[in-house]
Amino acid sequence: VAETGIDAWLRYARVPNCGKLRHEVPGRIVALNNSEASPVYTAGQELALGFAGILDKDVQVSDTSSAKHHGSHGHSGTLMVGTVDQFADASMDVDLDDDELIADGYHISISGSDVHIIGENDRGALYGAFNYLNALAQGNVPSESYTSNPDAPIRWVNHWDNLQDGGTHGSVERGYGGESIFYWDGSVREDLSRVPQYARLLASVGINGAIVNNVNANESMVEPYIVQGLQRVADLMRPYGVQIGMSLNFATPELLGVLDTYDPLNQSVIDFWNQRTDMIYEHIPDLAGYLIKASSEGQPGPLAINRTLAEGANLFAKALQPHGGITMFRAFVYDSTSLNETEDWRADRANAAVEFFDGLDGKFDDNVVIQIKYGPIDFQVREPASPLFAHLKNTPSAIELQVTQEYLGQQDHVMYFADLWKSVLDFDLRVDGEQSLVKDIIAGRRFNQPLGGYAAVSGIGLNQTWLGSHLAMSNLYLYGQMAWNPDVSSAGVIEDWTRLTFGFNQDVIDTVREISLEAWPTYENYTGNLGIQTLTDILNAHYGPNPASQDGNPWGQWTRADTFSIGMDRTIENGTGFAGQYPPEVAQMYDNIETTPDDLLLWFHHVPYTYVLNSGETVIQHFYNAHYAGSENAQTFPERWQALQGKMDQQQWSETMHKFVYQAGHSIVWRDAINNFYYNLSDIPDELGRVGHH
Ligand code: GCU
Repeated sequence: VAETGIDAWLRYARVPNCGKLRHEVPGRIVALNNSEASPVYTAGQELALGFAGILDKDVQVSDTSSAKHHGSHGHSGTLMVGTVDQFADASMDVDLDDDELIADGYHISISGSDVHIIGENDRGALYGAFNYLNALAQGNVPSESYTSNPDAPIRWVNHWDNLQDGGTHGSVERGYGGESIFYWDGSVREDLSRVPQYARLLASVGINGAIVNNVNANESMVEPYIVQGLQRVADLMRPYGVQIGMSLNFATPELLGVLDTYDPLNQSVIDFWNQRTDMIYEHIPDLAGYLIKASSEGQPGPLAINRTLAEGANLFAKALQPHGGITMFRAFVYDSTSLNETEDWRADRANAAVEFFDGLDGKFDDNVVIQIKYGPIDFQVREPASPLFAHLKNTPSAIELQVTQEYLGQQDHVMYFADLWKSVLDFDLRVDGEQSLVKDIIAGRRFNQPLGGYAAVSGIGLNQTWLGSHLAMSNLYLYGQMAWNPDVSSAGVIEDWTRLTFGFNQDVIDTVREISLEAWPTYENYTGNLGIQTLTDILNAHYGPNPASQDGNPWGQWTRADTFSIGMDRTIENGTGFAGQYPPEVAQMYDNIETTPDDLLLWFHHVPYTYVLNSGETVIQHFYNAHYAGSENAQTFPERWQALQGKMDQQQWSETMHKFVYQAGHSIVWRDAINNFYYNLSDIPDELGRVGHH
C-alpha cells in the first residue's frame, strides 16, 4: 500500500491480530438501502472495504431484498446497517436497549454473532459503521452493544477557498496544504476527485456540513454556472451525509449589477435573495445553509447602510426558512479603520463583538445561529473565552475553531489543539451565577436552544497530506471527535489517531502522544506568553516573529509595549472595560490583577516588566525563561522523532522529520527575536545571562 497520507486515518491497514479477529466479525453485510446516494449504502461499501483491508476478509454486501432471509447464520453472523425505520420496514426487531437516539445518533446492537448498526437517520447509520470500523482498525472487535449521540446538531467545517482571487488560481485563504479541491480559475473544478475522498474523512468523524467557499465571499457564488458546479460537489458529498453550504457576499445584488442597493429591508433585495435561494435549492435540495461575514474587515454589511446585524442576518434566514436551511452569522464583526492605539487608551477590538450584538439577542429568526470565534480577537495562541457566549440567551450560537494553524505555525510547527480548545469549551462563564460552560451553551443545553454547535476552518487543499503536514491531520480528526463529544480525552484521541494513521508500534504511539500534548505549551512558550497573544507578523503573513508589528497596527491586535511596561489594560475602571463584558463573577476575577491567572495576565492588565507573577518570576524573566524552555523542548523533537525511523511508514516519517528539524531551528529564531526585542526595549538583562549584555 502506498501510504502517502491521502487516506489519512482511514487506511484500513491490516491489523496484527487479523487472523483471530476475522472469525469474530460477521460473515455477511446487509445495507438496508441500495440507493447509491444514501449514506446507508456507503456504510455497506465502507464496511466491506474495511473488512478486506483490516482483516483480509472478503464480504459481499447485499441489500434490503435479501435482508429478511438472512437471520443469524450460525457463527458466521450478519452485520446489518440501516436506519430505525429501515430495520422496521425489513421486519427486523429494533432493540435499542432502552437508549434514546437523537438525529445523527446510532446504536450498535450486538447479539451473538449478529451486529445491527442502527442509525436514527441515514447519516447516523454511516457514523455507526465508521465507529465500528474505527475499533476494528485498532484491533478490537466490539463485543457489547452501545449507543452514541452527538453533543450538538451543527458540526461543520468551513472552507476559506477562493472562487476568484485576482491572480493565484485555486487559492485557499490561510491554507497551507496546496490549491483548492473545489475551484480553479473562477469556476468549480472539472476534476473533483478529491471531494468524495475528503467527505469520507469528514463522515468518519461525524462532520455533517461543509461551507465550501471563503467567508470573504465572491458575489458570483450565486450565479447559475457556479451553482451548477456546486451541485456536483453536493452530489459527491451526499453519500457521506455531508451537506454543503456557501458563504455569501452581503452586497451581491449590487456587485453583480442586478440592483443598485443591498439594503436588507428593500423589497427588490428580498426578492433577489428569495429567487436565488430557490434556484440554489433546485440544484441542491439539501443545502445546509449560508455563512455570512458582514460589516467586518472591509466586507460590506448592514451597518454601513444603517441596518442592524439582525436585519442583515434575517434577510438570509427568511430566504432559507422554507427550505429548512440555516444562516450562520459570524460574530467576527469589527471596524478595522476606526481603531487608534496611540490616541485612545480605551480603544479595544476585543470589545467589538459584544458591543455590536448588544440589544440584538432575541431579534434573530429561529434559523439564525451566531458563529463566534473561540476568543474575542482572532485564533491566538491563548485567549479567554469570548464573552459573547454569555450574552446570547435567546439566540443559538456555535463556536468557531481553526484546524488550519494560521497563528500557530502554519503546519510547519507541530500543533495539537485538544487542550487549547478545551480551555475555552470547558470554561465556566457563570451566567446568572450558575454553571455555564461554553460547551453547554453551544450545544443548546444551557439556554434551551434547539440549534447550535461547532464550526472549524479546515484549510485542506490538494496536497497529498491534505493540510500540508501529516501530523496536522490529527486536528481534523480531533475536531470531529470533539464536536461529537467535547469530553473526549486529549491523550486518548491522539493515541487512536496515531494507531489508525501510523500503525501499532508502541514507540510511535507514545512519541506522537507526548509531542502532541507538549505542542501547544511549547509553541506558546516561544511565541507569546502570559496572554500577550502570538507575537507574530500581524501585518500580513501571520508567520514568524515580529513583536514590533504588534503595536500601532490598524487591526487592533496590540500589546501596548513601551520601555517599562506591557499588556492591554482591559480592566473596567482604568482600562478598555473589556473585563466588564463577562458576567459578574468572571468579570471580577479578570478585573482584579490578583485573581487573574498568570497565563492571561497581559491580556487583562498593563504592568511593568518587573511585575512579579504568582509563579514568583518577573514578567520579563518569564519571557526569557519561557522562550528558552519552549525552544529547548522544540529542539528535542528531531531526536525523539529520529528514534521512530523504521517503525512507521518511511515517507511519512521523513516528511515529518523535515518539519521537526525546521521547527527546531525556527524556534531559536523566535526565541532570540522576542527576547532581544524586549531586552532592547526594557534594558533589563536576563538573570541567567543568556540575553543582553553580560
Ligand atoms: C483573520 C484571518 C483572515 C480572515 C478573518 C476572518 O483575520 O487572518 O484571513 O478573513 O480572520 O475570520 O474573517
